[in-house]
Amino acid sequence: MTILVTGGAGYIGSHTCVELLQAGYDIAVLDNFSNSSPEALRRVSEITGKEFPVYAIDLLNLDELDRVFSNHTIQAVIHLAGLKAVGESVSSPMHYYYSNMTSTFHLCETMSKYGVHRFVFSSSATVYGLPESVPITEKFPVGATNPYGRTKQMIEQVLQDLYASNPAWGISILRYFNPIGAHKSGRIGEDPSGIPNNLMPFITQVAIGRRDQLTVYGNDYPTSDGTGVRDYIHVADLAQGHLRALEKCLSAPGLDIYNLGTGKGYSVLDVVRAFEKVSGRTIPYTVVDRRPGDIATCYADPSKAQHELGWKAVRDIEEMCEDSWQWQLRNPEGYKEMVTTSQANG
Ligand code: WQD
Repeated sequence: MTILVTGGAGYIGSHTCVELLQAGYDIAVLDNFSNSSPEALRRVSEITGKEFPVYAIDLLNLDELDRVFSNHTIQAVIHLAGLKAVGESVSSPMHYYYSNMTSTFHLCETMSKYGVHRFVFSSSATVYGLPESVPITEKFPVGATNPYGRTKQMIEQVLQDLYASNPAWGISILRYFNPIGAHKSGRIGEDPSGIPNNLMPFITQVAIGRRDQLTVYGNDYPTSDGTGVRDYIHVADLAQGHLRALEKCLSAPGLDIYNLGTGKGYSVLDVVRAFEKVSGRTIPYTVVDRRPGDIATCYADPSKAQHELGWKAVRDIEEMCEDSWQWQLRNPEGYKEMVTTSQANG
């Protein structure tokens, strides 16, 4: 029996594959490598000592997807593949709606055809939009404010209707807060292409001298120091959350939604200070206007996942910064240099 991981070469995907393999699962990875590197999967094998099939295909290609299901007895699917840049989704909404929605439709259609009804879906705290208060529980109303977030919100609704139509499904919907950090080995980590959208990869690129300074988007929010507050969660804790959710949906049919966060909020400057402390590097920054679409404060009430999945984030902000730093220090150009090296080796 195999667990199919879509988007398995990505930041969350590669860390989730490590945890799955080390927990004894057999996996197959499907990735179109549009925003990830095959090198990440080579390193997943290096870390775990285990090999697994990799399909370089796009979920939009229904025939190729069908081939994967005909080649394996799939027990469950962990669906991480998707476009996820908020800003890009605003400028290219049709691309986001078509890609994220259609790939999920293809996946559910093929799963049904092969009698596979166990599904873990990568959603996002961005579905909450501007929360009425914090901490945020799963009972809060959803109201995404950008096309990327709306694709996640719509897919959640599709999955709820799918379950209502056929209670044989076992579905876990995971709303990620802000994943940062990297595997302890420093061999896999976050490797955004181009200018990083997110805070931590920008900080680490400043720390190794790839960027001159950090731009802080606003210091006039109603927060402790005026900068945005978020619930940062170590990617290894997030990966463990996927394992618990998988076990839950394998155990029985049903549909559950879980916040995967720490329940603690840290401001931009809190993160900068923590990073400077663990790295010994100074992070110069300049404050500019707020980034359109940003909210002041967002952090989870993670108690439902704790009670129902037996899961709790255990790594603190300094460990998150340390592990992000070690990844960037050992891989100044992310996975690119290895591709160059392997190309050079032929
Ligand atoms: C965090 C804080 C910024 C960069 C996004 C998506 C969300 C999820 C996680 C996919 C904010 C500030 C950032 C910078 C800054 N992605 N910041 N300078 O916006 O909370 O969430 O990524 O699922 O869907 O919305 O994360 O890391 O971009 O920003 O000052 O160069 O850091 O204003 O307060 P965000 P982020």
